[in-house]
Amino acid sequence: MGNRIIRPLQKLASGSRMQGAHGAEDRSVFNIHEDLSTGATLQRAAEVEFTKRPIDLRSDTTTLPTVQLIRSMVQAEVGDYAYGEDKACNELISYCKELFKVEDAIFVTSGMLANRLAVMTQTEPGDEIITDYNYHINFFDSAATAKVCGVVLNCIHSDDGVMTVNHIEQAIKSKPRYKTFAQVKLVTIENTINSYQGKIFPFPVQQRVYKYLKQNNINLHLDGARIFNAHVVTRIPLSEYAKYTDTLSFCFSKGLGAPFGSMLLGRKDIIEKARRYQAWLGSSYHQIGFQAKAALYALQNNISKLEQDNQLAQLLFEKLSYLKGIKLLNTVETNMVGFNISSLQVSNDTFLNECARNGVLLFPWLDNQIRAVVHLGISKFDIEYAYKAIELAVHKLIENRGK
Ligand SMILES: Cc1ncc(COP(=O)(O)O)c(C=O)c1O
Repeated sequence: MGNRIIRPLQKLASGSRMQGAHGAEDRSVFNIHEDLSTGATLQRAAEVEFTKRPIDLRSDTTTLPTVQLIRSMVQAEVGDYAYGEDKACNELISYCKELFKVEDAIFVTSGMLANRLAVMTQTEPGDEIITDYNYHINFFDSAATAKVCGVVLNCIHSDDGVMTVNHIEQAIKSKPRYKTFAQVKLVTIENTINSYQGKIFPFPVQQRVYKYLKQNNINLHLDGARIFNAHVVTRIPLSEYAKYTDTLSFCFSKGLGAPFGSMLLGRKDIIEKARRYQAWLGSSYHQIGFQAKAALYALQNNISKLEQDNQLAQLLFEKLSYLKGIKLLNTVETNMVGFNISSLQVSNDTFLNECARNGVLLFPWLDNQIRAVVHLGISKFDIEYAYKAIELAVHKLIENRGK
């Protein structure tokens, strides 16, 4: 049984895995120590390495820089960021301000720092933030938010990951709000919603939440780490998403395929404060322009490629829907697929190791919950291969279950 399935896998492995999702030009690079002036050598190194690596669907943060992106980096005009003289970083910031039509923007190291700065600039220690327990700011980052920002997280447990005005109203009214008690100063939402397999936060809900919050003197932060995955589906202009927030953050180092960085956008006074706190947290820069140039390249070249990631996630979802032994979670709206493996009666580790042996890496979200994320560099061929690898693992574990 195992052999029958492994044969197609071996055949696939010897096939053309060198063709990346977006064509030969986009092959990812492992060895960037090659001489950048000899593009051919670099390209060859990339091809060799690419064929060796497993199909990595753990996250869209595992994207590797392409040859073109690295070439763009070496052309950056850099200077000292601390003196406002890094031209490439300034250019990136101007580009983002124009794209989202916001007053100001700050380039930061990570999505987590963008969220941290959003909190620090819009709250004081002792204030309260309302969010959904599933959103990154609580799910992964509550300890840092509490320790570094000194705020209280009041978490909603929504049924579907979408926090509405009703939820927020209930959370505000769930405690007495005398002046000496915690005051709600910020609400945070997420788009796309990571814990819900990349579900798109409905824009009309965001608009209603924002309007309600403005009537109550509370700010709204949108953690838009993957806002572009939503944007290529909804076609809602990025400026509209920004218009109904006080701050919005997004990541370059996920599906867009840059190796580094996030952006926090908002009003001038908020971003001015964020610059101060960025320095306080020891996260200011000097010649950051190389990374800024990579981020700009990703923004200018890779947004439309997210459509293909979303389509390939849909393909994987459809294939998995016929596989007995797992249960799909939700539907697919963007680039993520989630499924439950409880009926296999094995630990996440056992399942993931089995998949890894077959050449595909997946992420353990929670107990029995597995996540697959499609991203730049993953081709239709990779998805077919990944499906076979998962199918093989599931069949083997079902067989073993009876023993
Ligand atoms: C919704 C969301 N926000 C923030 C982050 C943090 O981004 P980073 O890993 O760049 O700190 C992530 C990371 O996956 C995320 O999914």
